[in-house]
Amino acid sequence: MPDVIRGDLYDFPKYYDLLFGSDWKAEFDFLQLCFEKHAGRRVQRIFEPACGTGRLLIKLAQAGYDVAGNDLNPKAVGYCNARMARHRFAESVTVGDMSDFKVARKCDAAFNMINSFRHLPTEQQAESHLQCMANAIAKGGLYVLGLHLIPTDGGRCEEESWSARRGNLVVNSHMWSQAIDLRRRMEKLGMRIDVYTPTRHLRIDDVMHYRTYNARQMKALLSRVPAWELVETYDFAYDINDPISITRTTEDVVYILRKR
Ligand SMILES: C[S@@+](CC[C@H](N)C(=O)[O-])C[C@H]1O[C@@H](n2cnc3c(N)ncnc32)[C@H](O)[C@@H]1O
Repeated sequence: MPDVIRGDLYDFPKYYDLLFGSDWKAEFDFLQLCFEKHAGRRVQRIFEPACGTGRLLIKLAQAGYDVAGNDLNPKAVGYCNARMARHRFAESVTVGDMSDFKVARKCDAAFNMINSFRHLPTEQQAESHLQCMANAIAKGGLYVLGLHLIPTDGGRCEEESWSARRGNLVVNSHMWSQAIDLRRRMEKLGMRIDVYTPTRHLRIDDVMHYRTYNARQMKALLSRVPAWELVETYDFAYDINDPISITRTTEDVVYILRKR
């Protein structure tokens, strides 16, 4: 029988990073292709809001970019900075709220790939986030923003599973939509993480809340922050040669926003 705890996956950066960190290459390649194709300036300095363990920041630092980020969770920030330091990069990630922050020096590009933006519970915070991001990015710079929309036609994917192994450590996770309130714009997601070591089976039962967006709601939000120009949309296939048009059935979208 597992030891079961009710907890927050983000408080376990080692397990988070093993689960999601293995899956970095497609996003990493796509980001660099986006910088080449869509940025109106050379990209050297990159910021990731809600960066978590910095699974992509570390790869970008190793590729020669100057990177920085923030995250609400001090454990994730500690994990990220410790890894940066181990690889002799600056400990450039701070504890902060992505809806209320300033950067010391403007960046050329930013990214937020897998729904972290939906953690912001209100429209005010979402708008404030987009405004903070606009203030943080120089003219011609990009914000690559990925999230799942709620389709207004057809079905949607309501569960996902991941699995990863490093040596004797195995982490399996399952996430599923528990409830959705489209009037209050809130989706409740269950998440179960099973961690296996040679001596222990730990189970973390987590609940997360994501604000919901349909295509129209996202369009309305973007229109309220005119500093951003929407230049292209892709999906989570991350194929730079295959942009998408958003329809009523679209679910996963990567918005490419360019600073005016
Ligand atoms: C799904 S994880 C994504 C982490 C990272 N961006 C990645 O791609 O692996 C979501 C992250 O959002 C962070 N987060 C949630 N609300 C936040 C807020 N208001 N400001 C900053 N970070 C936040 C959580 O602590 C968590 O690390």
